[in-house]
Amino acid sequence: MTIDLHDYVASIPDFPESGIIFRDVTPLLADAAALKMATHQLAMYAQKQGATVVVAPESRGFLLGTPIAIELGIGFVPARKPGKLPRETVSEHYALEYGSATLEINRDAIKPGDKVVIVDDLLATGGTIAATINLVEKLGGEVVGLGFLIELNALSGRDILKGYDIHALLAYE
Ligand code: PRP
Ligand code: ADE
Ligand code: MG
Repeated sequence: MTIDLHDYVASIPDFPESGIIFRDVTPLLADAAALKMATHQLAMYAQKQGATVVVAPESRGFLLGTPIAIELGIGFVPARKPGKLPRETVSEHYALEYGSATLEINRDAIKPGDKVVIVDDLLATGGTIAATINLVEKLGGEVVGLGFLIELNALSGRDILKGYDIHALLAYE
């Protein structure tokens, strides 16, 4: 049986605000075969790009980043919401489709020359990933690819990520 990952994304209108269609990946995470296939496909992408480290933004990015890193036998580095990392960090403030936020990364987590693939569940405006890219690059890492389960075309996240290689398993308008 072939798996269509679209069947494992729930679309919820007007969440968390009127006018937003929320693309919920929890059905995909809950299905053993869909989860394995999606993480494997993103791991093969990260391998092709030559990743030596996987970085992902809290929270949903963690759910994919860690199994991808395990599959490739490389390390995982979290970009966390503020005030969670107790040692020295670098931080970036950014705008979201709804609201704004800050991400932080451990200053010693990325070394110059590291080849980083950043993964997340979904690319919308690109603000989260642009902030994560800035964190990695501030520490001297090279961002060699950006992997997502879902890209929302209408929000044109790609436009602020020019020059970076982007791979999304699914696209929605
Ligand atoms: C969601 C999603 C992406 C981001 C995409 O995260 O998981 O990380 O929004 O939006 P963008 O491309 O416009 O930045 P959210 O900040 O809602 O937090 P969560 O992962 O903790 O649920
Ligand atoms: N993050 C930003 N926009 C989103 C959307 N439409 N669905 C799920 N997560 C999101
Ligand atoms: Mg997120």
